[in-house]
Amino acid sequence: MADALRAVRLVAPGFHAALRVHLVETSPVLRARQAKVLEGEAVEWHERLTDLPPGPFILLANEFLDALPIHQLVKHGGQWRERQVALTEAGDFGFQVGKAASPLARLLTPEVAQAPETSIAEVSPTIRGTIAAISRRLAHYGGAALLIDYGYAEAAAGDSLQAVRRHQYHPVLQDPGEADLTAHVDFSAVGAAARMSGVDVHGPIEQGAFLTRLGILERAQRLVRDVDSAKAHDLVEGMHRLIAPDRMGSLFKVIGLGPVGLSALPGFVS
Ligand SMILES: C[S@@+](CC[C@H](N)C(=O)[O-])C[C@H]1O[C@@H](n2cnc3c(N)ncnc32)[C@H](O)[C@@H]1O
Repeated sequence: MADALRAVRLVAPGFHAALRVHLVETSPVLRARQAKVLEGEAVEWHERLTDLPPGPFILLANEFLDALPIHQLVKHGGQWRERQVALTEAGDFGFQVGKAASPLARLLTPEVAQAPETSIAEVSPTIRGTIAAISRRLAHYGGAALLIDYGYAEAAAGDSLQAVRRHQYHPVLQDPGEADLTAHVDFSAVGAAARMSGVDVHGPIEQGAFLTRLGILERAQRLVRDVDSAKAHDLVEGMHRLIAPDRMGSLFKVIGLGPVGLSALPGFVS
């Protein structure tokens, strides 16, 4: 947000003066850090998307959806059952399989539902509800939403739940509350929830293609001209991290949402 505001201030000062920043952030620790980074900007914090004031809005969500809760289902005896957390005999948290078929299985696509015995599939009613709420607001007030996250364009079976603590992978059930839990985002479910709530969907496309279409290569070429070689190396390395297919360029996807009939959004068309 700090980078976006700095750029907006330069290229569209009138827009910068008119805009208001609303951050939806549940973590008090991160709110304090954001306040420092965004000092001097008019910023308000909210606990939930539904607390935002009415009116048109541009929503930027970078690595937000991956932090929202998922359910994991396990194929067991031909049924999709909930993968539950239970206490082991040793007193630790462990996974167990639910005793009956889960009603959430109706959210699986026909292809995923046919996955073989012991497969794991993930669904997120929270992400669908969040996207529906954003889309309804967009359809009503106008605006646009840009969501960037790692995940897959088509629904697929698989266990993508992971925990990261102090920049290291961590066992997901250890130290609850102390590690960052995330899962890959199913962008086909995001697109479907948005369309059902009355907006147009742009993408998803891979982050590398999106940033290249927006001119990241040309921008980096301009920037490296005016800096020393160490800084130029950092800029080029940073750009590669974002767009190289074996780094963030392919796994990360970008999806845009906007009112029906809004012209194609930049980055989504070649
Ligand atoms: C991986 S971070 C991404 C941070 C930031 N957008 C960036 O690009 O660096 C995920 C953020 O979502 C916040 N978050 C998690 N669950 C949330 C929820 N239910 N409502 C609002 N924020 C949430 C976390 O506190 C964290 O700031």
